[in-house]
Amino acid sequence: MALSLQNRVLTVLLFALLSFKATSSSHHHHHHHHQGLKSLHFSLFQHETINRTGYIIVKGVAGPGVSQTTTPFGTLFAFQDPMTVTANRTSKLVGIAEGTSITSGLDGLRSISIAKITLRLKNHSGSISIVGGTHNIKPSDHPVVGGTGDFLFVQGYVTSSPVNLKGLTVTYKIEFHLYWPPYATHTSS
Ligand SMILES: *[C@@H]1O[C@H](CO)[C@@H](O)[C@H](O)[C@H]1NC(C)=O
Ligand SMILES: *[C@@H]1O[C@H](CO)[C@@H](O)[C@H](O)[C@H]1NC(C)=O
Ligand SMILES: *[C@@H]1O[C@H](CO)[C@@H](O)[C@H](O)[C@H]1NC(C)=O
Repeated sequence: MALSLQNRVLTVLLFALLSFKATSSSHHHHHHHHQGLKSLHFSLFQHETINRTGYIIVKGVAGPGVSQTTTPFGTLFAFQDPMTVTANRTSKLVGIAEGTSITSGLDGLRSISIAKITLRLKNHSGSISIVGGTHNIKPSDHPVVGGTGDFLFVQGYVTSSPVNLKGLTVTYKIEFHLYWPPYATHTSS
């Protein structure tokens, strides 16, 4: 009897916790002010030119063929793409995205991506590493797993959204939301 009551209380608590999480995550575009937490928010544009900055290394085995937006399941792709300050490829180059993606959706639209983004911004130089799922035609969030240089210990996420998928060069908008934990801001400035 006491145990089942405990279980019920636990269930209610868990449910409350889960619905709170769901509520707060649906509002993630509003910027909460993290008191005392150093953060940086900015956007860059990544340009990828097939057979010049990005190549299919291993052909996939199932699902749709290679098109502007799809690659067969299992395709291994590698890239070293320039990142500029506006959607115009000729705008100022401030970053390089190097990485790989493997098509993980049988629909040919989803992949798992790993990338190191080297940045040379006005006040911050270094790299951040990201990993996560990418959707070829929809915005995707990638967790930041860490960084080097001025981005040492950095956390947060980047959102990648397609801007232009037509032509030999495709462009993605990359929104960075970076947060330094307290122990990182004490060791670097
Ligand atoms: C890229 O190179 C591959 C292999 O040489 C070729 O099959 C493919 O047609 C090329 N793609 C484009 C868009 O030029
Ligand atoms: C991109 O920038 C160049 C150089 O500033 C300019 O000539 C060109 O028109 C721009 N392209 C677009 C699509 O705005
Ligand atoms: C860059 O650093 C300078 C001097 O330290 C500071 O005045 C400026 O506000 C900083 N700019 C940004 C965008 O953080």
